Amino acid sequence: MYRNHTCGEIRMENNGQEVLLAGWVQRVRNLGGMTFIDLRDRYGLTQLVVDDQSTNEVKNVASGLGREYVVQARGVVRERSSKNLKIATGEVELHISELNVLNSAATPPFTIQDDTDGGDELRMKYRYLDLRREAVRKNLELRAKMAHVVRNYLGSKDFIETETPVLIKSTPEGARDFVVPSRMNPNQFYALPQSPQLFKQLLMVAGFDRYYQIVKCFRDEDLRADRQPEFTQIDCEMSYVHQEDVLNMFEGLTKHIFKELKGIDIIDFPRMTFADAFEKYGNDKPDLRFGMMIHEMTDLVKGKEFKLFDEAEYIGGICATGCGEYTRKQLDALTEYIKKSQIGGSGLIYAKVNSDGTVKSSVDKFYSSEDVQKWAARLEAKPGDLLLVTFGTKERALPVISALRLEMGRQCGLMDKEIFKPLWVVDFPLLEWSEETQRFFAMHHPFTSPKPEDIALLDSDPGKVRANAYDLVINGVEIGGGSVRIFDSALQAKMFKILGFTKEAAEDQFGFLMNAFKFGAPPHAGIAFGFDRLVSMFAGLDSIRDVIAFPKNNSGRDVMNDSPSPIAQTQLDELYLKMVKTE
Ligand code: AMO
Repeated sequence: MYRNHTCGEIRMENNGQEVLLAGWVQRVRNLGGMTFIDLRDRYGLTQLVVDDQSTNEVKNVASGLGREYVVQARGVVRERSSKNLKIATGEVELHISELNVLNSAATPPFTIQDDTDGGDELRMKYRYLDLRREAVRKNLELRAKMAHVVRNYLGSKDFIETETPVLIKSTPEGARDFVVPSRMNPNQFYALPQSPQLFKQLLMVAGFDRYYQIVKCFRDEDLRADRQPEFTQIDCEMSYVHQEDVLNMFEGLTKHIFKELKGIDIIDFPRMTFADAFEKYGNDKPDLRFGMMIHEMTDLVKGKEFKLFDEAEYIGGICATGCGEYTRKQLDALTEYIKKSQIGGSGLIYAKVNSDGTVKSSVDKFYSSEDVQKWAARLEAKPGDLLLVTFGTKERALPVISALRLEMGRQCGLMDKEIFKPLWVVDFPLLEWSEETQRFFAMHHPFTSPKPEDIALLDSDPGKVRANAYDLVINGVEIGGGSVRIFDSALQAKMFKILGFTKEAAEDQFGFLMNAFKFGAPPHAGIAFGFDRLVSMFAGLDSIRDVIAFPKNNSGRDVMNDSPSPIAQTQLDELYLKMVKTE
């Protein structure tokens, strides 16, 4: 037997007992005649003591220990004279009668403690050591617990967990595919799934009725804090349901996860149309932890010789509560912020409502104080508030003011990570026009059903058609998305036509789906949650990398095993591939 207790479980009740532990040496302190060893395993830390009553053999082994050595220690539990109430085992220590080194360890490249001295790159290179740190491992434990809670819930609702293939057919829609060459089929490729979308729809045709899978998905897209090239979805599909049925089921799942893992009752799941979200929050994933709603001011500000406003299609603003004392420097910094290339703002106009109710704006030359009072009334500003106003085309100005709203939320400390405000964003547009390729793209995916009342517009004004599509947003993060599907092959064929597929291309890419639909496809709908995003939100983290055991860096590389990497010429030959020189 290697051990009969863990390093996290010994308490005063064990006083006087002999126990056997195994773990890693976190720290050795030599204090004259006594040596203290902090022994760590997944469950915690126990202090081992070697003193003058210990055998020479134990003293010898103790003197040769280094950080992260793997050891086994037998000893008697004693009450500590100076207790450490910061750790669960801090009232006791183990007086060692036997100490065995099970394995030595090279000096680790960073300290394996919650506050480590290792930089990001180093910790990723030695991720297995990083994962030894409690602060990191507990995120992965939370992930495992959440998967368990999700499985229990969906299992109890009769969802069948079904695995779908990882080597699938490449399709041109959506993000870029990762492709895999086939040795047995020269010059042909599989793709890794961006999601199991088509398979789960086929499972509905197959009569599974309710499907789910906690599944890896792969997308070759630019990476960000909330995007990894391989990530995990809680993927679901249901038959004989309307949009409301799906929203209710997954509201139920979300409430259940919050209750089980955080003990929080989430009651409210407001619904907001995409159009409203864009008007009031400037994006399709509003953070409802704070107000600061956007108000359009176009009608209020025109015709005063102020060229920037007169020439703008749209002018809108927010009221930053209590920020009326912002200094010139702070206001300049906000202007700089919105002018950053990734935000793309053209300028910021501001006005302060003083404590006596008078107003002062950065465009006093053009606007009287009565004019600015009207702005303040529109934005519902009170004395001590700051009005921030920007302008441009509606399409561009709203996202700019949305970014500014979030920045003000941060600056005002309104984004409490322990407050959770979910909502459903509904009625997304079905199609998005691409200027670059001069064609429509499916905003969600090509299998999303238009709203029945908008179907007539498909021929006359496709850009206006709304979809039966929905996103679950929590605290400004898109946690999940889904839609009611098209289940009629004629309507599906029409969608492909609008998306610019020739009959042949649609047949080649999606013929198997359209064929399946001829054999009695039930009405169906579904959704997928981004599992990594949900876990990282629960853990209060800003990046999903911290809840993935072995994540990729921002260039899509695994720095631990140095992949992607070249392959041997023989492998290339087998796959009929040729290396191409790059710059
Ligand atoms: P969608 O593309 O909206 O829908 O994806 C569902 C959810 O997956 C998460 N997500 C990601 N998480 C981490 N890294 C990424 N690169 C990444 N991309 C997406 C998001 C997102 O809301 N098949 C449809 C679902 C359906 O219609 O049923 C789909 O994949 O949280």
